[in-house]
Amino acid sequence: MLNNEVIVVAIDGPSASGKSTVAHLVADRLGFNYVDSGSFYRGITWKALREGLDTADQEQVIALINRMDMQCICRERVVTFTIDGEEPGDQIRSQPVQEHVSDIAAVSEVRTFLVGMLRDTARFGHLAMEGRDIGTVVFPDSMYKYYLDADPEERARRRFNELTAESGYEDVNAVLDSLTRRDRKDTTRKAAPLQIALGAEVIDSTSMTAEDVAEHIIARLKSAGLPA
Ligand code: CDP
Repeated sequence: MLNNEVIVVAIDGPSASGKSTVAHLVADRLGFNYVDSGSFYRGITWKALREGLDTADQEQVIALINRMDMQCICRERVVTFTIDGEEPGDQIRSQPVQEHVSDIAAVSEVRTFLVGMLRDTARFGHLAMEGRDIGTVVFPDSMYKYYLDADPEERARRRFNELTAESGYEDVNAVLDSLTRRDRKDTTRKAAPLQIALGAEVIDSTSMTAEDVAEHIIARLKSAGLPA
């Protein structure tokens, strides 16, 4: 499944555990492409909401993925996508998308569709990919798997600080509620629940900066022989 020549660094973990910043730093340092797999789930959620669909109605969601055209693009070592020719940009970070994405991510047809698309991003070259099931399902054969975690309160603080005023969240408690609800759905769903991949190193980043975590991973990769 994994093209032997392509190296994948798989970084999983719950919401706002620092995966994006860390995966980005690691990708930059190694000269690999960066893939935020959650943005793909958010992209489909954005499209569903824009079409006025009921995201809890699986039939409507499945019909959407069958009719839409989603394409990957790799630009300046960041892999992203278009849906029916459009790039959603920051709209995938809005509160409505945030509140509905876990419903969409629980639909097994959506997961099959996106797992295929995410695996196919290996055609662009070596990858640092972050998400919920990268080490367990998307690239289970990866030799380089990490699971980032942090206390929920710390994760909510980090997420609140990176949100813009337009995001719709009033305060850090509203963010904590939303993260907690989403974590619960992500860990208890039937299809590819969030779990620690076999062979993954668990890193608790509660009292570490993203730079510290990235340095730690890079040191590991170096000692495993990667030219970091
Ligand atoms: O940024 P944050 O960690 O809050 O979330 P994200 O990585 O953007 O992912 C948004 C949602 O997509 C998650 O809450 C999951 O429901 C889903 N997701 C998933 O199911 N599998 C992935 N590989 C990535 C994201």
